[in-house]
Amino acid sequence: MKRMAILLAALLPMLVSCSCKETMDELTDRVFDVAARQSELMAASLGEDQTPKTYEDGKFVTASPSWWCSGFFPGVLWYIYEYNSDPRFKELAVRETAKVENIKYVTDHHDVGFQINCSYGHQYRLTGDEHALDVLRTAARSLTGAFAEEVGCIRSWPFVKKGFSWVYPVIIDNMMNLELLMSVGNMDGDEWLRHVAISHADKTMENHFREDYTCCHLVDYVPETGAVNKKITVQGLADDSAWARGQAWALYGYTMMYEQTEDVKYLHLAQNVGDMIESYLPEDGVPYWDFNDPDIPKAYRDASAAAVMASAYIALDAVADNGKDYLAIAERQLRSLASEEYLAKVGENGHFILKHSVGNLPENAEVDVPLTYADYYFLEALLRYRSAMTE
Ligand code: GLY
Repeated sequence: MKRMAILLAALLPMLVSCSCKETMDELTDRVFDVAARQSELMAASLGEDQTPKTYEDGKFVTASPSWWCSGFFPGVLWYIYEYNSDPRFKELAVRETAKVENIKYVTDHHDVGFQINCSYGHQYRLTGDEHALDVLRTAARSLTGAFAEEVGCIRSWPFVKKGFSWVYPVIIDNMMNLELLMSVGNMDGDEWLRHVAISHADKTMENHFREDYTCCHLVDYVPETGAVNKKITVQGLADDSAWARGQAWALYGYTMMYEQTEDVKYLHLAQNVGDMIESYLPEDGVPYWDFNDPDIPKAYRDASAAAVMASAYIALDAVADNGKDYLAIAERQLRSLASEEYLAKVGENGHFILKHSVGNLPENAEVDVPLTYADYYFLEALLRYRSAMTE
């Protein structure tokens, strides 16, 4: 009897802690409840030509549909609709998606992929709408307008920025835009679209990465020859540092390229990048904005990078050939993002879902604020996690 009592006393804390731990299903329900309520409020506060940008100094900041992030809020609404099947969210998603339609004609920068794939891509995926498919097709072909065969990459930006002197800038973020090309290319059997995406991924693999699998932010090419002019950063701490979101884009981009092509060189790069990132993650899995900031552990965290990474790790886990448990890393990140530290309370945070992201610290822009892409990839990751667990 006494022995039984001692055993029970020893087990009790364990039993209590097991029964109290929120399951990932419960966590997902809780986050989507917050997301739905925040997003309805946000949608109600947007004017005709406005898309959400951030919430800074107590003010909700919007941008025009030409801003590179304009596709993310429509995507948030589509993910909520996917989760709850509530027709009100479909209606809002269609309304917000329509705001970015004209971006399908943009031929001189890479963000067309983000803007159209994260909005119309879901409209087509979830509704089969033929008009959405037409928009995707037009946008994919427009995106190739920024591709030069001599370089083998899509040029990220058309402009020369004050203080910088690049000629043909290609940023690691650009890997994310290849999904539009690959999905339309595969659907239509369009070898040109596939060629542009694969060429871009191969050249980026060759020139953006260092021996330790970190990558630089921007490679500037000589347009006539495709030779590397220089490697620099714009949004990171230093030219030779590892800017967290850049590493996240690389992880996501190469995992996606493997899914689209089944070429194992992309998978192996994604795994090496994933392992490198893990080695820099703090205990809660939410990365510092730049892995090399000397102010760590006091440096800013970047929730947007954590959300992109979590989504990518879940996709990588499904295809990895090295036996690593990438899902566990994603779960750690998602649990942190769903905690009070990062998840907004309904009615606060400018109606964004997550707090504490970093947009462009060197320019002192969007530092420690909510950002639409953090919200978008967070919801995507939760849906991916749920389907990974039910497959
Ligand atoms: N340019 C995309 C980003 O800030 O990650």
